Amino acid sequence: MDILVCGGAGYIGAHMVKMLAGLGHRVTIFDNLTTGHRDAVRWGELVKGDLLDPAALDALFKGRCFEAVMHFSAKSLVAESVADPALYYANNVTGTLNLLAAMRAHGVEKFIFSSSAAIFGNPVQEFIDEGHPKRPINPYGATKLMVEEILGHYQQAYGMRSVSLRYFNAAGADPVGEIGESHQPETHLIPNVLRSLLVEGESLKVFGNKYPTTDGTCVRDYIHVEDLCRAHLLALEFLADNLGVYGVNLGNGVGFSILDVIRAAEVVSGRNISYTLAPPRSGDPATLVADCTLARKQLGWEPRYTDINEIIATAWAWHQSSGFD
Ligand code: UFG
Repeated sequence: MDILVCGGAGYIGAHMVKMLAGLGHRVTIFDNLTTGHRDAVRWGELVKGDLLDPAALDALFKGRCFEAVMHFSAKSLVAESVADPALYYANNVTGTLNLLAAMRAHGVEKFIFSSSAAIFGNPVQEFIDEGHPKRPINPYGATKLMVEEILGHYQQAYGMRSVSLRYFNAAGADPVGEIGESHQPETHLIPNVLRSLLVEGESLKVFGNKYPTTDGTCVRDYIHVEDLCRAHLLALEFLADNLGVYGVNLGNGVGFSILDVIRAAEVVSGRNISYTLAPPRSGDPATLVADCTLARKQLGWEPRYTDINEIIATAWAWHQSSGFD
Protein backbone atom coordinates (compact mmCIF):
# COMPACT_ATOMS: atom_id res chain seq x y z
CA MET A 1 0.00 0.00 0.00
CA ASP A 2 0.99 3.60 -0.58
CA ILE A 3 0.72 5.39 2.76
CA LEU A 4 1.26 9.00 3.73
CA VAL A 5 2.69 9.50 7.23
CA CYS A 6 2.45 13.13 8.34
CA GLY A 7 4.93 13.74 11.12
CA GLY A 8 6.95 10.66 10.17
CA ALA A 9 10.19 12.29 11.38
CA GLY A 10 8.89 12.55 14.96
CA TYR A 11 9.13 10.02 17.78
CA ILE A 12 6.04 7.88 17.17
CA GLY A 13 5.80 8.65 13.44
CA ALA A 14 9.33 7.42 12.74
CA HIS A 15 8.63 4.10 14.49
CA MET A 16 5.47 3.81 12.39
CA VAL A 17 7.36 4.46 9.16
CA LYS A 18 9.91 1.80 10.01
CA MET A 19 7.17 -0.74 10.78
CA LEU A 20 5.20 0.05 7.60
CA ALA A 21 8.28 -0.13 5.39
CA GLY A 22 9.30 -3.41 7.05
CA LEU A 23 5.95 -4.84 5.95
CA GLY A 24 6.55 -3.77 2.36
CA HIS A 25 4.37 -0.65 2.24
CA ARG A 26 5.53 2.37 0.26
CA VAL A 27 5.76 5.26 2.70
CA THR A 28 5.88 8.98 2.06
CA ILE A 29 6.77 11.18 5.01
CA PHE A 30 5.49 14.77 5.15
CA ASP A 31 7.17 16.70 7.91
CA ASN A 32 8.29 20.29 8.47
CA LEU A 33 11.21 19.06 10.62
CA THR A 34 10.56 21.63 13.36
CA THR A 35 10.47 18.96 16.04
CA GLY A 36 11.14 15.88 13.92
CA HIS A 37 14.58 14.60 12.99
CA ARG A 38 15.80 14.19 9.44
CA ASP A 39 18.08 11.33 10.51
CA ALA A 40 15.05 9.41 11.85
CA VAL A 41 13.71 9.19 8.29
CA ARG A 42 15.40 6.15 6.82
CA TRP A 43 12.62 4.02 5.43
CA GLY A 44 10.62 6.20 3.08
CA GLU A 45 10.61 9.29 0.91
CA LEU A 46 10.76 12.54 2.86
CA VAL A 47 8.80 15.49 1.54
CA LYS A 48 9.63 18.52 3.64
CA GLY A 49 6.62 20.75 4.02
CA ASP A 50 4.08 22.27 6.31
CA LEU A 51 0.43 21.44 6.86
CA LEU A 52 -0.26 25.17 6.97
CA ASP A 53 0.76 25.37 3.30
CA PRO A 54 -2.17 24.07 1.18
CA ALA A 55 -0.16 24.40 -2.06
CA ALA A 56 2.55 22.10 -0.65
CA LEU A 57 -0.14 19.60 0.33
CA ASP A 58 -1.70 19.74 -3.12
CA ALA A 59 1.69 19.10 -4.72
CA LEU A 60 2.25 16.21 -2.31
CA PHE A 61 -1.00 14.48 -3.24
CA LYS A 62 -0.66 15.15 -6.99
CA GLY A 63 1.14 12.35 -8.72
CA ARG A 64 0.82 9.98 -5.75
CA CYS A 65 -1.99 7.63 -5.02
CA PHE A 66 -2.28 7.24 -1.25
CA GLU A 67 -4.47 4.49 0.11
CA ALA A 68 -4.50 6.02 3.61
CA VAL A 69 -3.09 8.84 5.71
CA MET A 70 -1.65 8.51 9.22
CA HIS A 71 -1.43 11.85 10.96
CA PHE A 72 1.18 12.21 13.72
CA SER A 73 2.07 15.89 13.14
CA ALA A 74 1.09 18.01 16.10
CA LYS A 75 2.28 20.38 18.69
CA SER A 76 2.01 18.30 21.86
CA LEU A 77 3.22 20.13 24.96
CA VAL A 78 0.45 20.91 27.40
CA ALA A 79 2.22 23.86 29.07
CA GLU A 80 3.12 25.41 25.71
CA SER A 81 -0.49 25.06 24.60
CA VAL A 82 -1.63 27.02 27.63
CA ALA A 83 0.95 29.75 26.98
CA ASP A 84 0.35 29.95 23.21
CA PRO A 85 -3.03 28.48 22.26
CA ALA A 86 -3.00 30.21 18.85
CA LEU A 87 0.00 28.08 17.86
CA TYR A 88 -1.88 24.94 18.85
CA TYR A 89 -5.15 25.79 17.13
CA ALA A 90 -3.25 26.72 13.96
CA ASN A 91 -1.01 23.65 13.85
CA ASN A 92 -3.31 21.03 15.21
CA VAL A 93 -6.69 22.17 13.90
CA THR A 94 -6.06 24.35 10.82
CA GLY A 95 -3.20 22.07 9.74
CA THR A 96 -5.44 19.03 10.01
CA LEU A 97 -8.28 20.79 8.13
CA ASN A 98 -5.81 21.49 5.30
CA LEU A 99 -4.73 17.86 5.27
CA LEU A 100 -8.34 16.65 5.19
CA ALA A 101 -9.09 19.10 2.36
CA ALA A 102 -6.20 17.67 0.32
CA MET A 103 -7.44 14.14 1.03
CA ARG A 104 -10.93 15.04 -0.19
CA ALA A 105 -9.62 16.82 -3.27
CA HIS A 106 -7.59 13.74 -4.20
CA GLY A 107 -10.11 11.08 -3.22
CA VAL A 108 -8.29 9.60 -0.20
CA GLU A 109 -10.78 8.27 2.34
CA LYS A 110 -8.92 6.50 5.14
CA PHE A 111 -7.47 8.50 8.00
CA ILE A 112 -5.76 7.40 11.20
CA PHE A 113 -5.43 10.18 13.70
CA SER A 114 -3.07 10.44 16.67
CA SER A 115 -5.37 11.60 19.43
CA SER A 116 -4.61 11.74 23.13
CA ALA A 117 -5.79 10.90 26.62
CA ALA A 118 -5.77 14.69 27.01
CA ILE A 119 -9.24 14.81 25.37
CA PHE A 120 -10.74 13.39 28.60
CA GLY A 121 -9.50 16.01 31.07
CA ASN A 122 -9.64 15.07 34.74
CA PRO A 123 -10.74 11.44 35.15
CA VAL A 124 -14.04 10.74 36.85
CA GLN A 125 -13.40 7.00 37.06
CA GLU A 126 -10.34 4.80 37.70
CA PHE A 127 -10.02 3.36 34.20
CA ILE A 128 -10.80 5.65 31.29
CA ASP A 129 -12.89 4.01 28.60
CA GLU A 130 -14.24 5.56 25.42
CA GLY A 131 -17.50 6.58 27.14
CA HIS A 132 -15.65 8.73 29.70
CA PRO A 133 -16.71 12.42 29.54
CA LYS A 134 -14.54 14.39 27.13
CA ARG A 135 -13.71 17.64 28.86
CA PRO A 136 -10.16 18.68 28.02
CA ILE A 137 -8.51 20.97 30.55
CA ASN A 138 -5.95 22.54 28.23
CA PRO A 139 -5.79 23.84 24.64
CA TYR A 140 -3.72 20.82 23.51
CA GLY A 141 -6.46 18.40 24.55
CA ALA A 142 -9.11 20.74 23.09
CA THR A 143 -7.40 20.70 19.67
CA LYS A 144 -7.33 16.89 19.65
CA LEU A 145 -10.99 16.67 20.60
CA MET A 146 -11.91 19.26 17.97
CA VAL A 147 -10.28 17.17 15.26
CA GLU A 148 -12.17 14.09 16.49
CA GLU A 149 -15.42 16.06 16.21
CA ILE A 150 -14.49 17.31 12.74
CA LEU A 151 -13.87 13.71 11.69
CA GLY A 152 -17.40 12.79 12.82
CA HIS A 153 -18.87 15.51 10.62
CA TYR A 154 -16.61 14.62 7.68
CA GLN A 155 -17.73 11.02 7.89
CA GLN A 156 -21.41 12.01 7.76
CA ALA A 157 -20.99 14.56 4.98
CA TYR A 158 -18.13 13.20 2.88
CA GLY A 159 -17.86 9.54 3.83
CA MET A 160 -14.37 9.93 5.27
CA ARG A 161 -13.44 6.89 7.37
CA SER A 162 -11.25 7.36 10.39
CA VAL A 163 -9.88 5.87 13.55
CA SER A 164 -8.70 8.24 16.28
CA LEU A 165 -6.26 6.49 18.58
CA ARG A 166 -6.06 8.13 22.00
CA TYR A 167 -2.57 7.49 23.27
CA PHE A 168 -1.91 7.41 26.97
CA ASN A 169 1.85 7.75 27.73
CA ALA A 170 3.94 6.68 24.75
CA ALA A 171 7.29 5.28 25.91
CA GLY A 172 10.24 3.11 24.92
CA ALA A 173 12.21 2.82 21.71
CA ASP A 174 12.80 0.62 18.71
CA PRO A 175 13.92 -2.73 20.23
CA VAL A 176 16.88 -2.95 17.86
CA GLY A 177 17.92 0.57 18.79
CA GLU A 178 17.73 2.34 15.43
CA ILE A 179 15.35 5.08 16.59
CA GLY A 180 14.09 6.40 19.90
CA GLU A 181 12.57 9.33 21.73
CA SER A 182 14.26 12.69 21.47
CA HIS A 183 12.48 15.97 22.08
CA GLN A 184 13.93 19.44 22.43
CA PRO A 185 13.23 20.43 25.14
CA GLU A 186 12.56 17.03 26.69
CA THR A 187 9.59 17.18 29.04
CA HIS A 188 8.71 13.49 29.33
CA LEU A 189 9.39 11.48 32.43
CA ILE A 190 11.22 8.39 31.17
CA PRO A 191 13.77 10.22 28.96
CA ASN A 192 14.37 12.69 31.78
CA VAL A 193 14.95 9.87 34.28
CA LEU A 194 17.50 8.31 31.89
CA ARG A 195 19.07 11.66 31.08
CA SER A 196 19.79 12.15 34.78
CA LEU A 197 21.89 8.96 34.58
CA LEU A 198 23.72 9.77 31.37
CA VAL A 199 24.27 13.53 31.35
CA GLU A 200 26.70 15.02 33.81
CA GLY A 201 25.09 17.63 36.05
CA GLU A 202 21.48 16.80 35.02
CA SER A 203 19.25 16.16 37.98
CA LEU A 204 15.78 14.74 37.87
CA LYS A 205 12.86 16.74 39.20
CA VAL A 206 9.74 15.04 40.48
CA PHE A 207 6.79 17.38 40.01
CA GLY A 208 4.65 17.06 43.12
CA ASN A 209 4.25 14.38 45.80
CA LYS A 210 0.94 15.31 47.36
CA TYR A 211 -1.39 13.85 44.76
CA PRO A 212 -4.14 11.46 45.91
CA THR A 213 -2.20 8.37 44.76
CA THR A 214 -0.53 5.56 46.71
CA ASP A 215 2.82 7.36 47.01
CA GLY A 216 1.66 10.92 46.27
CA THR A 217 3.20 11.13 42.78
CA CYS A 218 1.27 11.12 39.49
CA VAL A 219 0.22 7.80 38.02
CA ARG A 220 0.36 7.19 34.26
CA ASP A 221 -0.25 4.33 31.85
CA TYR A 222 2.96 3.77 29.84
CA ILE A 223 2.53 2.12 26.49
CA HIS A 224 5.37 0.99 24.26
CA VAL A 225 5.74 2.90 21.00
CA GLU A 226 5.76 -0.35 19.00
CA ASP A 227 2.46 -1.40 20.56
CA LEU A 228 1.01 1.96 19.52
CA CYS A 229 2.28 1.45 15.99
CA ARG A 230 0.82 -2.05 15.78
CA ALA A 231 -2.56 -0.57 16.73
CA HIS A 232 -2.25 1.75 13.71
CA LEU A 233 -1.69 -1.25 11.43
CA LEU A 234 -4.77 -2.93 12.87
CA ALA A 235 -6.76 0.30 12.49
CA LEU A 236 -5.75 0.42 8.84
CA GLU A 237 -7.00 -3.13 8.30
CA PHE A 238 -10.17 -2.30 10.23
CA LEU A 239 -10.93 0.65 7.95
CA ALA A 240 -10.81 -1.59 4.90
CA ASP A 241 -14.10 -3.17 6.02
CA ASN A 242 -15.62 -0.48 8.24
CA LEU A 243 -16.85 2.78 6.79
CA GLY A 244 -17.44 4.79 9.97
CA VAL A 245 -15.64 7.04 12.42
CA TYR A 246 -14.08 5.41 15.47
CA GLY A 247 -12.25 6.47 18.63
CA VAL A 248 -10.14 3.95 20.57
CA ASN A 249 -8.10 4.32 23.77
CA LEU A 250 -4.58 2.87 23.84
CA GLY A 251 -2.70 2.10 27.02
CA ASN A 252 -1.62 -0.97 28.97
CA GLY A 253 -4.40 -0.52 31.49
CA VAL A 254 -1.92 -0.43 34.37
CA GLY A 255 -0.80 2.67 36.23
CA PHE A 256 2.72 3.43 37.47
CA SER A 257 3.61 6.34 39.72
CA ILE A 258 6.63 8.52 39.07
CA LEU A 259 8.44 6.74 41.92
CA ASP A 260 7.53 3.34 40.40
CA VAL A 261 9.12 4.49 37.14
CA ILE A 262 12.25 5.69 38.93
CA ARG A 263 12.57 2.35 40.75
CA ALA A 264 12.07 0.43 37.51
CA ALA A 265 14.75 2.55 35.81
CA GLU A 266 17.10 1.76 38.72
CA VAL A 267 16.54 -1.96 38.18
CA VAL A 268 17.03 -1.68 34.42
CA SER A 269 20.17 0.48 34.64
CA GLY A 270 21.61 -1.07 37.79
CA ARG A 271 22.24 2.46 39.13
CA ASN A 272 20.79 4.67 41.84
CA ILE A 273 18.70 7.58 40.70
CA SER A 274 18.58 10.71 42.79
CA TYR A 275 15.92 13.35 42.35
CA THR A 276 14.68 16.55 43.87
CA LEU A 277 11.09 17.43 44.60
CA ALA A 278 9.65 20.31 42.62
CA PRO A 279 6.21 21.96 42.70
CA PRO A 280 3.44 20.21 40.74
CA ARG A 281 3.32 20.99 37.02
CA SER A 282 0.14 22.85 36.17
CA GLY A 283 -2.48 20.82 34.31
CA ASP A 284 -1.17 17.39 35.45
CA PRO A 285 -4.07 15.09 36.43
CA ALA A 286 -3.21 12.80 39.39
CA THR A 287 -3.98 9.57 37.54
CA LEU A 288 -4.52 8.61 33.89
CA VAL A 289 -5.04 4.93 33.15
CA ALA A 290 -6.79 3.47 30.12
CA ASP A 291 -9.47 0.86 29.84
CA CYS A 292 -8.46 -0.82 26.57
CA THR A 293 -11.29 -3.31 26.22
CA LEU A 294 -12.47 -1.68 22.99
CA ALA A 295 -9.03 -1.79 21.36
CA ARG A 296 -8.93 -5.51 22.07
CA LYS A 297 -12.47 -6.18 20.84
CA GLN A 298 -12.64 -3.87 17.87
CA LEU A 299 -9.09 -3.98 16.55
CA GLY A 300 -7.95 -7.33 17.97
CA TRP A 301 -5.07 -5.41 19.55
CA GLU A 302 -3.03 -6.78 22.43
CA PRO A 303 -0.02 -4.92 23.85
CA ARG A 304 3.18 -6.99 23.79
CA TYR A 305 5.16 -4.82 26.21
CA THR A 306 3.24 -5.17 29.45
CA ASP A 307 6.24 -4.96 31.78
CA ILE A 308 7.38 -1.44 32.63
CA ASN A 309 10.99 -2.67 33.05
CA GLU A 310 10.97 -4.02 29.52
CA ILE A 311 9.58 -0.74 28.15
CA ILE A 312 12.24 1.27 29.98
CA ALA A 313 14.95 -1.19 28.91
CA THR A 314 14.34 -0.37 25.22
CA ALA A 315 14.59 3.36 25.96
CA TRP A 316 17.71 2.83 28.10
CA ALA A 317 19.45 0.85 25.33
CA TRP A 318 18.68 3.54 22.77
CA HIS A 319 19.72 6.48 24.98
CA GLN A 320 22.94 4.72 25.94
CA SER A 321 23.93 4.38 22.31
CA SER A 322 22.52 7.69 21.04
CA GLY A 323 23.00 9.98 24.02
CA PHE A 324 20.99 13.18 24.37
CA ASP A 325 20.88 16.28 22.13
N1 UFG B 1 7.39 14.36 35.36
C1 UFG B 1 8.32 14.60 36.36
N2 UFG B 1 9.57 14.98 35.98
C2 UFG B 1 9.93 15.15 34.67
C3 UFG B 1 8.97 14.90 33.67
C4 UFG B 1 7.70 14.51 34.04
O1 UFG B 1 8.02 14.47 37.54
O2 UFG B 1 11.08 15.53 34.40
C5 UFG B 1 6.05 13.90 35.76
C6 UFG B 1 4.92 14.77 35.21
O3 UFG B 1 4.69 15.89 36.04
C7 UFG B 1 3.78 13.78 35.15
C8 UFG B 1 4.48 12.42 34.85
O4 UFG B 1 5.84 12.63 35.22
O5 UFG B 1 3.19 13.68 36.40
C9 UFG B 1 4.42 12.07 33.38
O6 UFG B 1 4.83 13.19 32.62
P1 UFG B 1 5.11 13.16 31.06
O7 UFG B 1 5.47 14.56 30.64
O8 UFG B 1 6.05 12.07 30.72
O9 UFG B 1 3.70 12.75 30.45
P2 UFG B 1 2.28 13.46 30.59
O10 UFG B 1 1.39 12.48 31.28
O11 UFG B 1 2.34 14.83 31.13
O12 UFG B 1 1.95 13.68 29.05
C10 UFG B 1 1.24 12.78 28.30
C11 UFG B 1 1.62 12.95 26.84
C12 UFG B 1 1.25 14.32 26.37
C13 UFG B 1 -0.21 14.56 26.64
C14 UFG B 1 -0.53 14.35 28.10
C15 UFG B 1 -2.00 14.46 28.34
O13 UFG B 1 3.00 12.75 26.68
O14 UFG B 1 1.49 14.45 24.98
O15 UFG B 1 -0.13 13.05 28.49
O16 UFG B 1 -2.29 14.52 29.70
F1 UFG B 1 -0.56 15.81 26.33
